[in-house]
Amino acid sequence: LGLGALVHRRITAPGALAAVTLLLAIPASASSRSPGAPGIGDPYYPAYGNGGYDVSHYDLRLKYQPATDRLDGTATLLARTTQDLVRFNLDFLLDVSEVRVDGAKAAFRTSGEHELEITPDKPLAKGTPVTVVVRYGGVPSKKQAYGFTSWLRTPDGGVAAGEPEAAWWWFPSNDHPLDKATYDVSVQVPDGSQAISNGTLQSASSRAGWTRYSWRSDKPQATYLATLAVGRFDITTGTTKGGIPVLSAYSKDLGNVYGAARSSVERTGEIADWLTGYFGPYPYNALGGYVPNTGTGYALETQTRPYYSPRQFAAGSNTSVVVHELAHQWYGDLVSVARWKDIWINEGFARYAQWLWSEHEGEGTAQQLADHVYASRPADDPFWKVAPGDPGPENQFHLAVYDRGALALQALRNRIGDADFFAVLKGWPAKYAHGNASVADFRRYAEQVSGKPLGGLFDTWLYRPSKPAADAARDASI
Ligand code: ARG
Ligand code: ZN
Repeated sequence: LGLGALVHRRITAPGALAAVTLLLAIPASASSRSPGAPGIGDPYYPAYGNGGYDVSHYDLRLKYQPATDRLDGTATLLARTTQDLVRFNLDFLLDVSEVRVDGAKAAFRTSGEHELEITPDKPLAKGTPVTVVVRYGGVPSKKQAYGFTSWLRTPDGGVAAGEPEAAWWWFPSNDHPLDKATYDVSVQVPDGSQAISNGTLQSASSRAGWTRYSWRSDKPQATYLATLAVGRFDITTGTTKGGIPVLSAYSKDLGNVYGAARSSVERTGEIADWLTGYFGPYPYNALGGYVPNTGTGYALETQTRPYYSPRQFAAGSNTSVVVHELAHQWYGDLVSVARWKDIWINEGFARYAQWLWSEHEGEGTAQQLADHVYASRPADDPFWKVAPGDPGPENQFHLAVYDRGALALQALRNRIGDADFFAVLKGWPAKYAHGNASVADFRRYAEQVSGKPLGGLFDTWLYRPSKPAADAARDASI
């Protein structure tokens, strides 16, 4: 409802003249009654993210106690409004004690599963910078939304690593990949523990029994790619051939998996260098990986420093998972989904990178692995019912998004030829660097590079709920 409409309505009412005079005396920003939307508009997850502002930087100054899983601290968000705002939301689960907006105390309350509603003392005008300070504390493992928690408790600490949900348990945010920001994460932990996060370790200093670790991630980063791990780690450092500093961390508590985990993740620099041949220059100025003593089945491409669960290494060394998470640094982190339905532009490509690595290691070519996936799944396998191009929130991480998703890329490769295919693989991260893109954007880009219409091929491999015909992977006529 704009000012014009308000004025119009008032004019038709009794006492119109006085009301109009009053309204016009108020600046446009203050006259707005618009609250920010409680979601950013993602059809899979209507409540994720928020409307009305865009965050550019998160400063998190925290203290964590491994013995009790207690996290306390202050988040300072630098943002800019994208509309007039009388109220706006953050996504968060811990207990908030104070909120300040541009220095002034603001009213706040919780609502929904993970909303923190903030009402500044004065409405905010569209297009202005705003600073939000949130003081908070709580025990992340005790907080649930939709009946689950993504905060991972370990014997010696805790870890924030989940997709699409991870931030709610440790910092208030506009929790959607559409709103990327830079991060300073500074965490105090008891001496003898370490705090691991994204980017570069700026300092680690000890005082009165506590050590503060300060990390900086200075390229745009999606909220789910921000990570925190507190525990007792062995830390290794190195440098890639390309000159990127590498820092990795291994829980001292990995038991008989320790050797396989470290043997795999220590190849991070070599693998990142190898990936640059396919995807272009490594996009960040820090690199590494960490393996805390968690029990999840998944790994996660947390920006610059992926999270690996010990389970990835239960059967021995596993460089393939390292390839997968590092491929995401380009496909997922540098170029992020516009909506969560676009998850194939992350997972299909990270899986395909694993197939290229297999070829590199002499363990089967990408075509052989594609043929194997195709042959090992009969037409009535429910696998073929999942459309990688729009899998639904319940199937966002279904194996079909990965394996059928990579099959789609092999089909594309066969259709447009190696020269154009690898030009697309390398051109895409540069084209949408530090931004967001959709499956449709990828199809258009591949069509532009190859000069071939690809609607049929994408429909067959990414959208149809059935097994493509036997020769579809090699058939240029699709
Ligand atoms: N992107 C992760 C990967 O590299 C998948 C994370 C799945 N998350 C989950 N909560 N299951 O495979
Ligand atoms: Zn992945």
